[in-house]
Amino acid sequence: MSALHPPLIAPSVLSANFARMEEEVLAVERGGADWLHLDVMDGHFVPNLSFGAPLISALRGSSKLPFDVHLMIEPVDPYLEMFAKAGADHIHIHIEAGPHVHRSLQHIRALGKKPGIAICPATPACDVEHVLDLVDVILVMTVNPGFGGQKFLTSQLSKIRELRRMADATGRDIRIGVDGGIDTATAALATEAGADMLVAGTSVYGQSDYGQAISALRAAGKPYRADGV
Ligand code: DX5
Ligand code: ZN
Repeated sequence: MSALHPPLIAPSVLSANFARMEEEVLAVERGGADWLHLDVMDGHFVPNLSFGAPLISALRGSSKLPFDVHLMIEPVDPYLEMFAKAGADHIHIHIEAGPHVHRSLQHIRALGKKPGIAICPATPACDVEHVLDLVDVILVMTVNPGFGGQKFLTSQLSKIRELRRMADATGRDIRIGVDGGIDTATAALATEAGADMLVAGTSVYGQSDYGQAISALRAAGKPYRADGV
């Protein structure tokens, strides 16, 4: 049996008020968020710093949402266990973040977490071909990673289409998330191209009513077909 599902919405706390982080997380949880996206930046892989495992661990006790942790760090291997212990459910690493991403993804799985592979705008889809058997999520960066509030790169739509074909060809259930510049207009474009998970920072936390913003994004996205769910 296959059924239609709206895209999953993952608000990114990068755009939340850091002085009230717990409340900000609970507010999107009440507002109907599916996952919580947590952007970890190291000032090396990306030209910005955000937060690390202690914040994730502190929030873990307050929220039941799946924690979708996006590691924009290099190297990743010394820190995987730390983020697993902090309460990440999904751990995304970048295909560009080192020569042994294959092993890192195996490690994430061995830690009992869902591995995701993130891919920067300049990187071709084919670069992730040989790790697709290891991942549950592909996170397509629709901006250059490092900052919230940037403009969606429409050049990434053809890559989303290509990755959707590649993911479907595996016969495994692989989600395709898009991250950066997602609003109701770009949510429609990205889901039409094959995305089924939308990360949204500014378009949720920049609004006065988070629940309404989440519903608007969900409604703007094209539903996807999933088997047996
Ligand atoms: C950017 C981060 C994003 C960011 C998105 O490097 O990976 O998750 O929070 O922010 P918006 O939705 O404002 O583009
Ligand atoms: Zn992100």
